[in-house]
Amino acid sequence: NENILDLSVDKTYLAVLEGGTAAIAVNMSTTGAATAGDLVWSSSDEAVATVDDSGNVTGVKAGKCDITVSVKGNDAIAQTVLVTVRHLEQKDGCTYVDGILIVNKSYGLPESYDPGLDATTKAAFEQMKADAEKEGLNLYIGSDFRDYAYQVKIYNNYNDLYGWEMADTFSARPGYSEHQTGLTIDCNTIDDAFGETEEAKWLAAHCADYGFIIRFPDGKENITGYQYEPWHIRYVGVDTAKEIMSQGLTLEEYLGVKSEYAGAWEG
Ligand code: DAL
Ligand code: ZN
Repeated sequence: NENILDLSVDKTYLAVLEGGTAAIAVNMSTTGAATAGDLVWSSSDEAVATVDDSGNVTGVKAGKCDITVSVKGNDAIAQTVLVTVRHLEQKDGCTYVDGILIVNKSYGLPESYDPGLDATTKAAFEQMKADAEKEGLNLYIGSDFRDYAYQVKIYNNYNDLYGWEMADTFSARPGYSEHQTGLTIDCNTIDDAFGETEEAKWLAAHCADYGFIIRFPDGKENITGYQYEPWHIRYVGVDTAKEIMSQGLTLEEYLGVKSEYAGAWEG
């Protein structure tokens, strides 16, 4: 179709689980009539991921491949998305995706999971705090490890005050808080005012250098399931953190998982 002048895709990075699906949306700039039928989709490795005529990608086996969309009969006009297919495994009631512990509205922890603050996470935070201090900034722990019983109290309090639907937008149900992993720290004051501080700006710019990500970024509420929390950081290791933060991703996007409760709160 000669009416199609250019193509753009809604993402350059896509992760999907083995057996999972995700869509790539394409935008055509045209000078006349054109339809999705004028496009061709292909995978560089169908043993890793396949793609249908509408840009729906299905993960087959853990690995990486390129998914390309081009104009039928004119593959000079094309866009490529790097697709990473990831492996999910459950161990002792915890969920790991490519070895990374994932806790969100879709993946909980056993009530008995009680590791305390992770030693590597603590050391990374202390190094970060020391480096921030050299720039005259004061980072400190507002909240770190929280066990199941503590999260029961926190969530019930918000549920009583605001109802579960509102509470769910900013407080995790017991067993679904990342704080229970021991890999999460809330920095300084847990309020929106923190986001306006020099500390928050420095944290967003530098936390990846120490292995942390801003876990619930602004504008990604419908992906993470939570309101923006400039103070809540999650340890994932330096390489992973840099990849996530430099590409403006969430952990959900990076791992190819959803964050959705199975149903209403019935506690
Ligand atoms: N505030 C975050 C979502 C938590 O409760 O873990
Ligand atoms: Zn938090």
